[in-house]
Amino acid sequence: MMSQMLRDARAYEEQRERLIAPPDRPAFHLSARVGWMNDPNGFSYYQGKYHMFYQYYPYDSHWGPMHWGHAVSRDLLHWEYLPAALAPDVSYDHAGCFSGSAVELGDGRQLLMYTGVAHEVVENGELRDVQTQNLAVGDGVNYRKYTKNPVLTAADLPAGGSREHFRDPKMWRESDGSYRMVAVNLAAEGGGQVLLYRSDDGLRWEYVGVVAENRGRIGAMWECPDLFTLDGTDVLLASAQDMLPRGFEYHNGNGAFYLLGRLDPQTGRFTEQSDHAADYGIDFYAPQTVLTPDGRRVMIGWMQNWDTCNLRTKSVAWFGQMSLPRELHVRNGVLYQTPVRELDALRHDRVEHRAVTVENGEVTLPGVMGRTVDLEIELEAGDFTRFAIWFARSSEYHTGVSFRPHESVLKIDRKFSGSRRAIIHQRRAKVRHEGGKLKLRLILDRYSAEVFVNDGEQVMSATLYTDLTAEEIAFFADGKATFSVTKYDL
Ligand code: FRU
Repeated sequence: MMSQMLRDARAYEEQRERLIAPPDRPAFHLSARVGWMNDPNGFSYYQGKYHMFYQYYPYDSHWGPMHWGHAVSRDLLHWEYLPAALAPDVSYDHAGCFSGSAVELGDGRQLLMYTGVAHEVVENGELRDVQTQNLAVGDGVNYRKYTKNPVLTAADLPAGGSREHFRDPKMWRESDGSYRMVAVNLAAEGGGQVLLYRSDDGLRWEYVGVVAENRGRIGAMWECPDLFTLDGTDVLLASAQDMLPRGFEYHNGNGAFYLLGRLDPQTGRFTEQSDHAADYGIDFYAPQTVLTPDGRRVMIGWMQNWDTCNLRTKSVAWFGQMSLPRELHVRNGVLYQTPVRELDALRHDRVEHRAVTVENGEVTLPGVMGRTVDLEIELEAGDFTRFAIWFARSSEYHTGVSFRPHESVLKIDRKFSGSRRAIIHQRRAKVRHEGGKLKLRLILDRYSAEVFVNDGEQVMSATLYTDLTAEEIAFFADGKATFSVTKYDL
């Protein structure tokens, strides 16, 4: 039986969604059906479609008791909303159905695992969260919570692990049909740790060991882990709260990162080789990956930043969008990200300008403008101290990326995007180039910009809420710069 709470959410979202005109949303990024969206959940391929669930509060454009929203797609770019999948309607999840994942069971049903949050009263009378892992089984639209929930509790943690911070299970299936799952926990000595679990049937789970611990290196608590093998390397993806900046690598606050190394499947221990930010922009968190039927590892993150998102006015009809789906590869000790190749099919109206020179000023180019565009820019080595691309521009507004070759710094800057809040508006990254030679691919989708640097060696993502009439694109140089640009409308 479906709960009244889930029925209400489904009726509400269906009715309210009609009030949002499609042009008021991103064109090919998934956004909240109505109300609030955060983390991607249950990103999977099931019965011929990609499924994306997400942290969802339909009744407000701010975070609230978490439901799971649901959408499906054939190409990862055109999404169709399905009815909300989960509501916080039972005792062990009454304070929220937090993040989790999805796999297909041996019998063809879809299995969801999510974190149930309940409250307990502690000694001083205050309420504290209790987080447990729970299952729901369904047919791709409707899900029934498992009668034996919760399936993992504080009893399944290593010594000293926190029952208050035990969340975000990401499951996958091994080639022998058995299941694995990673979740995060707050370790006895403080700081996040990633734990590995295994199961033969997807229903009964057991603890294997600690995969990796933070030990004060990257923020404090970790969230939303994912673990997979790619190009002969094991990749542990996670997101950290409360980071301090480390050079140009990590920024203050929450951020997604990855560790490259080698997993010992018996003990679960991950031997690390390196760590890097998963995105060098302002808005990217809690990414999850899927393995596509043709063997690609594709990642989608929440294109937002926890420290700034609750500042949006309460009156907006939707808040929160996902990043572009990005194909991943490990090369030269780095996780490369490129927009999924399905995006190529959306490209039309190609415009190309070769060997354009701009000197101590700016140029605009015929046919190069718009807020849903794919722009490839190849900058030649040259005698310039700064090169910039300004977009979402009008007489009042602009957002931009600027490159200072002498500092090897690329900066994304949305100060003039129309924001009226004292939030982070810019972020810088160290980039690789030879004498100023740099390759950029900029994807704009109305309310976001994603900049892929050097064929995906780094990415910088940021949201912007500039009025859509601001659609000029201009190229600027201090000194003399030469570049080629290929533009497609999307
Ligand atoms: C990460 C996160 C998760 C949690 C969810 C709650 O953004 O804090 O750890 O499951 O959001 O909405």
